Amino acid sequence: MSNRLMPANFVRWSALCLLACALLAPAASAQAPAIAPAQAVTAEHGMVVAQEAIAARIGVETLQKGGNAVDAAVATGFAMAVTYPRAGNIGGGGFMVIHRAGGEDITIDYRETAPAAINAKSFLDAQGNADPQKSRNSALAIGVPGTVAGLALAEEKYGSGKFTLAQLMAPAIALARDGFTLADDTADALPHDWPKLQRWPSSVKVFGKADGTPLAEGDKLVQPDLAETLAAIAKDGPRAFYQGPVADKIAAAVQAAGGVMTADDLKNYHAVERVPIRGTYRGYHIVSMPPPSSGGIALVEMLNILEGYDLAHEPRAQELYLMTEAMKRAYADRAWFLGDPDVVKIPIPRLTSKGYAAEWRASINPAHATAADDIRAGGEVREEGHNTTHFSIIDQFGNAVANTYTLNFSFGVGLVADGAGILLNNELDDFAAKANSPNAYGLLGDEANAPGPGKRPLSSMTPTIVLKDGKPFLITGSPGGSLIINAVLQVVTNVIDRGMDIASAVSAPRVHNQWKPDIVFAETGIADDIVATLQARGDTVMVRPLPTSANSILSTPAGFIGAADPRTRGALAAGY
Ligand code: DON
Repeated sequence: MSNRLMPANFVRWSALCLLACALLAPAASAQAPAIAPAQAVTAEHGMVVAQEAIAARIGVETLQKGGNAVDAAVATGFAMAVTYPRAGNIGGGGFMVIHRAGGEDITIDYRETAPAAINAKSFLDAQGNADPQKSRNSALAIGVPGTVAGLALAEEKYGSGKFTLAQLMAPAIALARDGFTLADDTADALPHDWPKLQRWPSSVKVFGKADGTPLAEGDKLVQPDLAETLAAIAKDGPRAFYQGPVADKIAAAVQAAGGVMTADDLKNYHAVERVPIRGTYRGYHIVSMPPPSSGGIALVEMLNILEGYDLAHEPRAQELYLMTEAMKRAYADRAWFLGDPDVVKIPIPRLTSKGYAAEWRASINPAHATAADDIRAGGEVREEGHNTTHFSIIDQFGNAVANTYTLNFSFGVGLVADGAGILLNNELDDFAAKANSPNAYGLLGDEANAPGPGKRPLSSMTPTIVLKDGKPFLITGSPGGSLIINAVLQVVTNVIDRGMDIASAVSAPRVHNQWKPDIVFAETGIADDIVATLQARGDTVMVRPLPTSANSILSTPAGFIGAADPRTRGALAAGY
């Protein structure tokens, strides 16, 4: 199998990843200072930790009015589509993991789908090579947005019933209609992403000043068209987005920009409830996102491998070394097996089993790193067949929500659908445009993740709830493309193995390996002895920023403790 998965061209990967990383954290550089400590915030009844403060407070107010975690997630999710336009969205998609007080675990897949006219060759150039211009920067990259369907489904089935959708959307509508003052993070991001947005007058109209330059910190962002679209959804439900004038405007905008989405593609979109990925780790229960996210499977696979080591008593450097070895193996499996579960058969029970992990563990040498090329993706499995944003919420009733959603790049493809005010994604770059050609995050894939009509591209988003004695213990997730799964892994192990408080668990410098390229990335600020140990084991190590933002909540006897990830400015942990 490894012959079919060729090494990534690292130079290209590095440039692309730096691009992707710069999108998430424009101010970051290789000389970035070590990560500031996260601030822990304690609350007795309920808590929201989100990347944007206005939306986080709207979530908390919903909880204070007696809403449950799903109500708060819906209010926060729609609000962030207004207040955090680089990643909060109704023009993209995502995943929601819910734990209900009664014990039920739910996952909602509202990932974008490829329009019916997309096929395996859609993102190739005339020579048959992957063409990143097409999959990242053109309107062909736009997937059918899933967020409205996902949030509406969550509310209808799992909301408290105390609020109408219109009531939960009212703050978002008011913010879009009346405007709000741009804060640092969006204002920092806009000049960086301006060349992309500037390609379309409809985008300049929303995010630019009269002289055509981007809005700056302190300016007011008013989005009247978006307010109208949100009001239509509030009144008539998701039908107002997927059919009729709004859908027509989206399809017209995409087609005018050279894309292939039709009104029928929108009409055919459905959010899907899927069976959660479950695992256990040292007595805790892991509930995470199944395909089309790779997150849950890879997370459980890595935890299963690591459970065989006494990590708590390993020196930190050795602990992180063992972790990178687990990462290589799980990401190799990701590249080989995973894709849209409605189209490809994925051996989920096997990949998430303790036995499979034991086989992988047996291939790990505690003193010598395995080269990526020596890892046969798939092990012994038989054919049995910055931009994204994460928020975590817990309520007074025992419900919890982990939600990650995205436009892919910061401000997506940069196109606002004229008249509808909706910023559109470039999610279809998450397909493997061609086998062995890396996507923007350097991730490889094969046929399982080939582009195809109606397909959902494979994701790394990993909204996760860890249960202790059947109750929410840790709620976490992150943006960061390929970095996401490993960020979540390290928050979980920092808490469970190292006994760290949530603020330390979130801010501790991390390591990252994704199989190919065959490099361990160590986050700026990591201790020198860790880098030295990884090098001594034979790994090539690069120290650099790893832009993620794992906004997390830990339930403790002293209350809910939230930590907004200090790596990205603007996040807030708030509770009552
Ligand atoms: O679904 C995925 O895996 C990616 N589209 C997520 C992109 C992301 O996290 C961007 N943030 N850096």
